Amino acid sequence: MTVTIKNAEDQERMRVAGRLAAEVLDMVGDHIAPGVTTGELDAICHDYIVSRQQAIPAPLNYRGFPKSICTSVNHVVCHGIPGDRKLKNGDIVNVDITVIKEGFHGDTSRMFQVGKPTVQGRRLSDVAHEAMRRGISIVRPGIRLGDIGHAIQTYVEANHCSVVREYCGHGIGRQFHEDPQVLHYGRPDTGLELQPGMTFTIEPMVNAGRRHVKLLPDGWTVVTKDHSLSAQWEHTVLVTQDGYEVMTLGASGEI
Ligand code: MF3
Ligand code: CO
Ligand code: CO
Repeated sequence: MTVTIKNAEDQERMRVAGRLAAEVLDMVGDHIAPGVTTGELDAICHDYIVSRQQAIPAPLNYRGFPKSICTSVNHVVCHGIPGDRKLKNGDIVNVDITVIKEGFHGDTSRMFQVGKPTVQGRRLSDVAHEAMRRGISIVRPGIRLGDIGHAIQTYVEANHCSVVREYCGHGIGRQFHEDPQVLHYGRPDTGLELQPGMTFTIEPMVNAGRRHVKLLPDGWTVVTKDHSLSAQWEHTVLVTQDGYEVMTLGASGEI
């Protein structure tokens, strides 16, 4: 396992890439409404990233992924491929944006409610959001990855939801997916010890039902086996001397 430590210059580039990714999410939120297709959201984001930000949408052609963003609706857990599916009132959708700028990646995703939110959709999104925040909040040198996983898992399970095991957060930098793997479940005081200069994502996938998932025949789309709703939030985080810095904050400044 080779975990890269980012120097001050690398960190500044990560900050730039992270800010750009968050700005795409700030922008796309205004376009999410009943009747809009996920393919239209992809086209809007692609144009914005390429033309306005002069950056690269990292998913496009990544290991054969065909689009520039991931859009995961309702029981889709992650890696949903944008297409002709029209969003409808009460849907929940995760939009996951990764951009490359000056050789560095920024990776972040949020949940959006389409039209009038449902109680279940809102609640699940809130549980996933708070789970991510709890994972982030304990980041500092000296803690271990298992502490992050444990913080997330205990919160999610206390709220009668489940954590997906097959997909995880990841180191990020010059590469989209670097070591280490950041599991969203685990035991305290286990796993890699954090050091200043590490950058990784925290991106728990939380299911309303059971944790089990299945991969659709398109080779990308991951869905819940029991068809229950799934939600995910993601930030890219830097370990600082005494804590953390979230590199993918949007204009609101809120985690
Ligand atoms: N952005 C996703 C993540 O958080 C990865 C998407 S890979 C893709 O790690 F190929 F589907 F884009
Ligand atoms: Co990620
Ligand atoms: Co992502």
